[in-house]
Amino acid sequence: MPEAVPAGPGSRPGARRPLVSANWKMHHDHIVALHTVRDLGLRLGEPEAAVEVSVHPPFTDLRTVQLLIEGEHLPLALGAQHCHSAEEGAFTGEIAAPMLARLSVRYVIVGHSERRGLFKMDDEQVAATLRAVRRHAMVPILCVGESAIERDAGATEGRLQAQLKVALGALSAKEMASMVIAYEPIWAIGSGRAATHVDASDAAGFIRSLVAAAGGAEAAAGVRIQYGGSVNAENAADFVAEPDIDGLLVGGASLQAAEFAEIIRAVAGCYRSSAS
Ligand code: PGA
Repeated sequence: MPEAVPAGPGSRPGARRPLVSANWKMHHDHIVALHTVRDLGLRLGEPEAAVEVSVHPPFTDLRTVQLLIEGEHLPLALGAQHCHSAEEGAFTGEIAAPMLARLSVRYVIVGHSERRGLFKMDDEQVAATLRAVRRHAMVPILCVGESAIERDAGATEGRLQAQLKVALGALSAKEMASMVIAYEPIWAIGSGRAATHVDASDAAGFIRSLVAAAGGAEAAAGVRIQYGGSVNAENAADFVAEPDIDGLLVGGASLQAAEFAEIIRAVAGCYRSSAS
């Protein structure tokens, strides 16, 4: 795969390959997943190749989507939405990291605000889950972000700092360099009210500075930072035009192949491949 490079004036600088991820949450059974992923695969061609795309369906869809991606050589990476930190055990209803690795899952979302808020996942559990994902050679997409109350109180940076202190403490500098961090302000998720690209850029820059402090310059240069929260085809390019934002974590707008492909196309427009 050619390395992504800046597309010239007006485009974003940097050589990190952008990652656009579809977080389907609790939507689409395996039959719908089959149709949606096949449709998406057909819509992605050479112009979109600079962008890496991951699809994170519900657990019950994973095997179906894995076989489809492999069988039809679709330009997609398989992702999961969560896993438990233990290798196995009496954890009714949970899924372990090695189970995901056996299905060729590449990316695992860790600590999404819905897991933190609705299922009481705390920072220590997030850190333990990051370790489990790394143990099985998968790449975590660590979610961080502030609530509306924290934002209004001017506490955004403090919140990010607290979340990342525990999470990054679980990883080596090398692991930080290859991980993904999604900045997802909680108030922007599913609300139709995205952050401004300026605010998202400030947060991403701050996150990168925290990675630099924890893991050094190489870790900070390598880590990919996504923005997530009410992303759509209209606002996608504004976010990735920011030098510190290397991709997007998309919920609602990733459920339909046509709409999600538009987002990927918008991101690809900010990059070109060195082979072209
Ligand atoms: P949204 O969700 O795009 O529907 O706002 C994003 C997310 O929760 O990852």
